[in-house]
Amino acid sequence: MCGIVGYIGQQEAAPLLLKGLQRLEYRGYDSAGIAVQHGGRCEGVGATGEVLGAMNDVLGVRCDEKGMEDDAGVRVVKRKGNVASLGKALAGSNGAVSGATMGIGHTRWATHGDPSDRNAHPHMSADGSIALIHNGIIENHAALRVELGKHGYEFVSDTDSEVLVHLIDHLWKSIPFMNFEGAVREALSIVDGAYGICVISSREPDKLLVARNGSPLVIGVGDGEYFVASDAAPIVEHTRRVVYLSDGEMGVITRDGYTVKSIGNIVCEKGLTELDFDLEEIEKAGFEHFMLKEIFEQPEVMQDVMRGRVRLDEGRIQLGGIADQLERLREAKRIVICACGTSWHAGLIGEYLIEEFARIPVEVDYASEFRYRSPIVGPGDVMIVISQSGETADTLAALRLAKEKGAMVVGICNVVGSTIARETDCGMYTHAGPEIGVASTKAFTAQVIVLTMLALALSKDRTMTDGEVMDALRCLNDLPERVKRILDYNGEIQSIAEEYKDARNFLYLGRGYNFPVALEGALKLKEISYIHAEGYPAAEMKHGPIALIDEEMPVVVIAPKDDTYQKVLSNIQEVKARGGRVIAIATEGDEEIRELADHVMYVPEGKAFMMPLLTVIPLQLLSYYVATLRGCDVDRPRNLAKSVTVE
Ligand code: F6R
Repeated sequence: MCGIVGYIGQQEAAPLLLKGLQRLEYRGYDSAGIAVQHGGRCEGVGATGEVLGAMNDVLGVRCDEKGMEDDAGVRVVKRKGNVASLGKALAGSNGAVSGATMGIGHTRWATHGDPSDRNAHPHMSADGSIALIHNGIIENHAALRVELGKHGYEFVSDTDSEVLVHLIDHLWKSIPFMNFEGAVREALSIVDGAYGICVISSREPDKLLVARNGSPLVIGVGDGEYFVASDAAPIVEHTRRVVYLSDGEMGVITRDGYTVKSIGNIVCEKGLTELDFDLEEIEKAGFEHFMLKEIFEQPEVMQDVMRGRVRLDEGRIQLGGIADQLERLREAKRIVICACGTSWHAGLIGEYLIEEFARIPVEVDYASEFRYRSPIVGPGDVMIVISQSGETADTLAALRLAKEKGAMVVGICNVVGSTIARETDCGMYTHAGPEIGVASTKAFTAQVIVLTMLALALSKDRTMTDGEVMDALRCLNDLPERVKRILDYNGEIQSIAEEYKDARNFLYLGRGYNFPVALEGALKLKEISYIHAEGYPAAEMKHGPIALIDEEMPVVVIAPKDDTYQKVLSNIQEVKARGGRVIAIATEGDEEIRELADHVMYVPEGKAFMMPLLTVIPLQLLSYYVATLRGCDVDRPRNLAKSVTVE
């Protein structure tokens, strides 16, 4: 996820910002940049741009109009790649940023537009007088782009964030007696979406403005100096006194102090918090492992995945990445989904969703099998490839083969600008943020949500009525709250894990939408705890696996109240009759299942199609706790890499 740092004080800003960005590297990013406010006051004067150095990727702007110091102005250096590359660019910029005592810095994880120098933050106003960094997503960026275009604004990046800097500039220049703070406030009242921003301007050079709505921001309070960051990691080595901004709040920071106000300009009394944790704890947001952090992040991630796409007010789904191809997709003779591992499990759920909602035939293939089995695919077929990393070798090869044979290929990737994302004809990003734990958790739920949205987009005005689509949208909208409720059962799931941590084998059973969840639960357990686990469709148990059942074999049965509930209860009875121990995933309020199962992990009720997004959560937690109780390093399981770029 993107990272923000900011500084205002007496020290040299650039090295501090660079170090702060290094502290944020753990969050994952693809480009980095800083902007400093250089030199003395340059109030009320526009600045002109001047590229510093021969490289296009080092951008600098200096004020040079009457009344300003020679070297005054905002200067930006940004670069695709890591913070070390940014460091080199700074070193090679002929001291362009040295001497400045305030500035902002950013690590970007691409959401809108590929990772590139031009899309990296900070973004500048056209006259170079304002620099802005932004975390989050501006939902109405497309409409604002059009509007600003009418006023002559040109965009140099593909990002949603750039819209914000031009909007601030426009409001500042077009509204009489407007000032920096007012323009930022005004702009924030116009944008929809989530943001954490940090802005500086050569027109009011001694001010650092910050604001938050849905994307965290912390102000570190030093002695005559202030630090800003998206989490406390870059701050803790400078000061332990911090102020956490809440949603809808804005901070105005000068060297003499800071004020926190609401976006509506009402002063907020904010107490100082004393940080009492170390750097490593901050990076994991207080969780012991990245995997656990990522499991707990899921309610927010789900909101990010759906942001601007689930349009409840209009009763429809908007998927910008495939909008131009939607008709072609709807006319597909057949859809083939190709992926590996967890992404393949998401693909299986996608099959159920697309067939139920859109009535288009779907096949799901392991990418590694597809490419070696002389598949029948060609024009009129659509292949959907799903990959968190966007670099998985087998998935990439399947994509290339399908394209070669004339099929249209749609991608569902998390990493923006990854090879798969680039080579597909069109696609949708999952916006789950970087996944650092090797075992995929939040990326899986994000993929399933994207597939759900795709199925609904394919169905609208065809196979589903407006009322049915609306019902489904409401379910999606309620999802994050439901997931939060499951996470509250964390303690109970941990106790269950305690009881089963020494088992040598596990069986996972589920039906319908929950069959792929059984596969995913088993994969999650085996990859991080090294316990052998198998997933099966519940009804298949009697065709073989039942022979394995005895008191040594825990059986996890996914049994929410749905059309197959009674049948799944019979499966539980069959396991119990053979001395097996049952852990059931059941719908809240189901007391009947308590009588049968040894343990129950509850999830809120929900429509069948969204159950995987609920039932997978306790399974992720169960795997995590079993593995950690066995002393396994869950973030770095043996023999596994995050991205499998070899065949
Ligand atoms: C399991 C896991 C793997 C990946 C698989 C595909 O937790 O992470 O099974 O799902 O290697 O990776 P991507 O989605 O990057 O193509």
